[in-house]
Amino acid sequence: MKNLNPTSTLSWKKLNKHFLKIRNIHIKDLFQKDINRFKKFSLNFKNLILIDYSKNRITEKTIKYLLNLAQEFHLEQAIKSMFNGDYINVTENKPVLHTALRDFKKKKIFLNNVNISISINEVLEKIKDFSSKVISQEWRGYTGKYITDVVNIGIGGSNLGPEMVIESLTPYKNHLNFHFISNLDGTHVIEVLKKVNIESTIFLISSKTFTTQETMTNALTVKNFFLKQPKVSLSDMSKHFFALSMNEKAVIKFGIIKENFFPFWDWVGGRYSLWSSVGLSIALSIGYKNFSLLLKGAHDMDNHFLHTPLNKNIPVLLGLIGLWYSNFFHTETEGVFVYDQYMNKFAKFLQQTCMESNGKRVDRNRKIVSWQTGSIIWGEPGTNGQHSFYQLLHQGTKLIPSDFIIPMKTHNKINNHHLKLLSHFFAQTRSLAFGKSLQDFLHENKNKSFFKKRFKNKKDFFIYQVCPGNQPTNSFLLRKITPYTLGALIALFEHKIFTQGVILNIYSFDQWGVELGKSIAKDVLSILKSKDLCTKYDSSTNSLINFYKKF
Ligand code: F6P
Repeated sequence: MKNLNPTSTLSWKKLNKHFLKIRNIHIKDLFQKDINRFKKFSLNFKNLILIDYSKNRITEKTIKYLLNLAQEFHLEQAIKSMFNGDYINVTENKPVLHTALRDFKKKKIFLNNVNISISINEVLEKIKDFSSKVISQEWRGYTGKYITDVVNIGIGGSNLGPEMVIESLTPYKNHLNFHFISNLDGTHVIEVLKKVNIESTIFLISSKTFTTQETMTNALTVKNFFLKQPKVSLSDMSKHFFALSMNEKAVIKFGIIKENFFPFWDWVGGRYSLWSSVGLSIALSIGYKNFSLLLKGAHDMDNHFLHTPLNKNIPVLLGLIGLWYSNFFHTETEGVFVYDQYMNKFAKFLQQTCMESNGKRVDRNRKIVSWQTGSIIWGEPGTNGQHSFYQLLHQGTKLIPSDFIIPMKTHNKINNHHLKLLSHFFAQTRSLAFGKSLQDFLHENKNKSFFKKRFKNKKDFFIYQVCPGNQPTNSFLLRKITPYTLGALIALFEHKIFTQGVILNIYSFDQWGVELGKSIAKDVLSILKSKDLCTKYDSSTNSLINFYKKF
């Protein structure tokens, strides 16, 4: 991968100059100047997802300079490097090949002269076989009851992806009930255990490393709870406990038999693992066929990313536009607003994908960066957000680029709910971009009265209602939320993040930052267990710990 300081490139310099020229241009004026703006700045993925990025503070020149920047970073080659299994996760000395998991029809994918396609397909067969046994009620618990509930125990990537996908695809769900235990807070495990009947529940322990404290603590609690059930023996665990991991040794040590081990590999990052055996819960929930359609959707987006010229490449363009805001307009956050209740966990899922990937401060040249890297991702489903934080988007002082996502076809056609939902979707992106001026208000309210006792004139009154607009948005119109379109949408965002990482010259596939807190917590735990007061830290941390100890 090209190793450059982005700010020293010719394109960055051009972008800087260009920014000074267009920073105050209003989206409204950009549309007025060019009636073909939508046509120029929108793309369509297989007639299933329309992406409109015309309501951005960009011109054709902006895109030209951004594409030049991508070229200076040899982005096309970087993309190929990922798909080729090059060791692009340098600081962990690993290749990054989650894309191979969705290319399962291909017979040969070589990594270090090993055809990994064989093991990918073996695991998929195992997922297919087991999920069909559970769904068809052939698989029974230790007392002979068929399975009614599935509990996924995992955190981070071993939780967020499956939980989001299962909820997003609720309309495709079968009779099985799903539960997720992620938090170390004992409340999480206790509340789930209250809801399930152990005799008809299977537990999927999902952890790439099989050492993560939260997951192993929860898994042990569940195992002990299981073994305390009447008439249960250790061998009955084989009917109820399954592991999705790359650490076979630790899985066996925990007491899970080899037949119940669904492996995945070191070249699958945690936050990209829903495509691997971590997706077992997804296959159980929607059936293997639908799971394979999810993979297919992602694979088709992979092909788009790999083979489409940069100027028509959806993840590339969205990634570049994202950089334009964070590094030239100095925005810090990006909103993700999905107008679909089933997809209410999508923003939460993207938070890990983006913030764990691009929340970095050292470049590929071991230098502290002087530019902005990953943005803060946040969001709530529409229309809920409209009645809380949208006020700040419309009239606050912050520039917040955001993604608006909606299916055109709903799974729940009831009265005119969906038409109303669509109307809000279109209205929000329109009003965020165009706003409403004081002149418009004065013109519209020529003959209307106002609070004369409080305001000298109409202008003083209506100034409070003005919405300046010029807030950038991308609109995503999905034909329908299906396993296929969801797979494509997730892969789109994964590749957008990859694009940004390449150009920001950072390593997107490690996450060393999460280690410090983990190791201090280990140390603190031993202090909490001892009788002595804590003196080894700063006065704040010592006092907090000791206050707790006295309590
Ligand atoms: O702590 C961060 C992290 O390593 C994530 O990247 C990962 O998804 C999560 O922890 C869980 O890790 P594991 O699957 O190994 O339990």
